[in-house]
Amino acid sequence: MTMPLDVVIMAAGKGTRMKSTLPKVLHRLGGKPLLQHVIDTAAQLNARSAVVITGHESLVVQKAIISIAAQAVNTPAKAIFNAYKSINSVLQEPQLGTGHAVLQTVPVLPDDGMVLVLSGDVPLTQVDTLRKLIEQSGGDKLALLTIDFENPTGYGRVERNGVNSNEKVIAIVEQKDANEAQKGIKEVYSGIMAVPAKLLKGWLARLDNKNAQGEYYLTDIVKFAVADGLTVVAHKINDAAQVAGVNSPVQLAELERVYQQRLANTLMEQGVRLADPARFDLRGELKCGQDVEIDINCIFSGQVSLGAGVKVGAHCVISNAVIADGAVIHPFTHIEGEKLGISVGAGSLIGPFARLRPGAALGKEVHIGNFVEVKNATLADGAKANHLAYLGDSTVGERVNFGAGSITANYDGANKHRTVIEADVHIGSNCVLVAPVTIGAGGTVGGGSTITKSTPPGALSVARGKQVSIVAWQRPKKIAK
Ligand code: UD1
Ligand code: CA
Repeated sequence: MTMPLDVVIMAAGKGTRMKSTLPKVLHRLGGKPLLQHVIDTAAQLNARSAVVITGHESLVVQKAIISIAAQAVNTPAKAIFNAYKSINSVLQEPQLGTGHAVLQTVPVLPDDGMVLVLSGDVPLTQVDTLRKLIEQSGGDKLALLTIDFENPTGYGRVERNGVNSNEKVIAIVEQKDANEAQKGIKEVYSGIMAVPAKLLKGWLARLDNKNAQGEYYLTDIVKFAVADGLTVVAHKINDAAQVAGVNSPVQLAELERVYQQRLANTLMEQGVRLADPARFDLRGELKCGQDVEIDINCIFSGQVSLGAGVKVGAHCVISNAVIADGAVIHPFTHIEGEKLGISVGAGSLIGPFARLRPGAALGKEVHIGNFVEVKNATLADGAKANHLAYLGDSTVGERVNFGAGSITANYDGANKHRTVIEADVHIGSNCVLVAPVTIGAGGTVGGGSTITKSTPPGALSVARGKQVSIVAWQRPKKIAK
């Protein structure tokens, strides 16, 4: 079918059961707003346009749509999605039902397209499913996505012209309007349909609200289609997660696990070894080389890349970082690249309990040990800071050894300054390097020094009180009262 696709996303509902000030469709699943999941799915269908129907908290939702679109257009992987450049939103105020909702999109919907109706709170529908649904509509039919539920209570029932599942669809009957026989129907409407715009527009104009809820039901268009002599096709699936909506925190958490399991499966199929897929969270994109191992309870977000043979220990939080081949990230390490990003060179050993902050760029075989913080600093190949240290706004040369308890004092209370530590320097324990300062190549700084002036190459620099030992010294004695 070569008809252009226009996607309508319903998102005007209140989401009362979330008990949140945040509009329901902006709650996050896998780190991404529910609405963005739906828009991304539409993107993969190469939709020509998307229109979001907003109502409750419409301004907040509309602002979010603008930022989702802006982000997406800047992401190279999403370049295929022209629809991002043409996401519309329309306001539905007041909210008089799903039919009334879709009616609001009529002015922005082109007549020559196929319309796919989605819900902003149904995040896990697979692209393939929607593709098949659109195919079923064949460009001239109304196609409904349906599913059999053991307990169909609350859903619109798909009524057929007989008991057989291959009989013609004649209506969707809402729970509150259903008679006992209709309530017994297990096949329900998912809330997702594909319908040619021309037909849809004609049917929307015929909707009324003479039903148990006094609402304009989108589902009434099925009756009109049948009355007009058109075939209504049902594309039935059996994966409930694909049509599951989020109405409450419990449902959000359930779908989060479904989503994470999907991501985990994809990674494991690529050969990634997850210690436990049920204790794995990805809230962005994770690229992995061969033989990557990830222990339990790790969280990855933003864009993360792990080279071949990388091992990530338990309880690590990693975002926006590139970790090269063979690096080992020991447990409880926090690597947060934000906008500047972080790179960890091949064969490096990080943690346990290390913290890499934005702009940390580590060469090959760098060692960052426990309670070491690195921020906006370059460490060349073989540099080591193994215990209790802070390296901020620094350039650290090859093979430098940065002692336990030593820090760069990069901030004078007003401005940040840089510390340069040239190759092969040995910084003793408990030193303070007051920036701006350069430690010359091959130099040594004695433990406990506070260095405020640059040091020449090869020198031993000591800047601390001279040791005095008083022999035969007596401690004060308690005075008797
Ligand atoms: C709807 C269907 C029902 C189907 C079910 C699947 C109708 C009349 N019924 O029922 O057959 O089984 O979905 O979940 O369509 N919305 C608006 N404006 C409104 C009302 C709703 O934008 O005035 C949005 C909601 O935000 C939501 C979607 O439409 O995203 C569905 O609304 P909801 O109230 O959940 O539909 P149901 O009545 O459950
Ligand atoms: Ca309703």
